[in-house]
Amino acid sequence: MATLTKKDIKLTRTETSKLSTVDFNNLAFGQVFSDHMLTCDYKDGKWQLPEIVPYSPITLDPSAKIFHYGQSIFEGMKAYKDSNNDVFMFRPLENVKRLNISAKRLAIPEVPEDYFLEGLKALLEVEKDWIPTNEGSSLYIRPFIFASGKGFHASPADEYKFIICTAPSGAYFSGKVNVLIEETYSRSANGGVGFAKAGGNYAGQFYPTQLAKAKGYQQVIWTDDTTHEFIEEAGAMNVFIRINDTLLTSPVSDRILDGITRKSILQLAEAEGIKTEVRKVKVSELVEASKNGSLKEMFGAGTAAVISPISGFGFRGEDFEIPEQDQSFASQLKHRIINIQTNKTEDPFGWRVKL
Ligand code: PLP
Ligand code: COI
Repeated sequence: MATLTKKDIKLTRTETSKLSTVDFNNLAFGQVFSDHMLTCDYKDGKWQLPEIVPYSPITLDPSAKIFHYGQSIFEGMKAYKDSNNDVFMFRPLENVKRLNISAKRLAIPEVPEDYFLEGLKALLEVEKDWIPTNEGSSLYIRPFIFASGKGFHASPADEYKFIICTAPSGAYFSGKVNVLIEETYSRSANGGVGFAKAGGNYAGQFYPTQLAKAKGYQQVIWTDDTTHEFIEEAGAMNVFIRINDTLLTSPVSDRILDGITRKSILQLAEAEGIKTEVRKVKVSELVEASKNGSLKEMFGAGTAAVISPISGFGFRGEDFEIPEQDQSFASQLKHRIINIQTNKTEDPFGWRVKL
């Protein structure tokens, strides 16, 4: 099949740009949306050509299967601009691959990689001026697919929509991140959909996270659904734990999202001479390390969260503070990854993709 090129993507420009109304110095996360979006329909057994259209609401039949059976998956990625106004993406191929891993598990037709990658590039060309340049901000990109096909039969839809929207965004967390280690509820289960970026994985976390928030925690740290003994990941990020000088993170599994930031950090840490271990970490080990002073740091890693230091954790009614480090792995690695993403340093790993 011929590869899709830019000229195959029809562009309809907005007549009323919102750009001048946006305060780029005060950006929240994912609250304002750029002028255009990419949209692509699956019907008659195949993905139709993508189009770029003005950002606008979409109309769906009330029986669309997304509403009833939750066939919906998404991705999260970012675009950055350097001081020459050149635009960069970070490991976009990893996102399309993961989107299709999620698609397969949710019985959604996989999107051709060139539709995703060429479509994204064409959209970024149009939305270039929406990419923030202030430190800590970027253009958050949200590709997603959902079942638009009709019918109450509990079976996969015959029609889908693939959309990419973008939102100039600042930091995901404002302030310190204090987490609660969860033992009652589970985010995912063996053989389930935890490894997929499925909308329902997030909906299922909202109630336990509301309970945690009411107790003063910002995020839940999920433990394994069988024993609740092992640390898995947080609601919107993978988790790293530094015990003495070793950086630990759980192995990914069918319950844990294979985070692109997580795997990049593991490679970066190795390159920086930081000892890493990918192994299961017991909650009891974390508690013990906190008590004996060997727990030096804990942080979350994800596209939206970048690297977010965790200031403390709650477990079984007790709170454990994690003292701030002068020279933390979190700040060292955050600096390294942001410099690569924003073209401030060499990219020895070949992660950066220029538009
Ligand atoms: N885990 C969950 C549940 C997430 O939602 C995310 C965010 O995408 C991550 C981990 C981190 O993944 P990535 O680094 O690919 O953004
Ligand atoms: C991301 O980091 O891109 C995510 O998808 C997390 C999201 C729940 C905000």
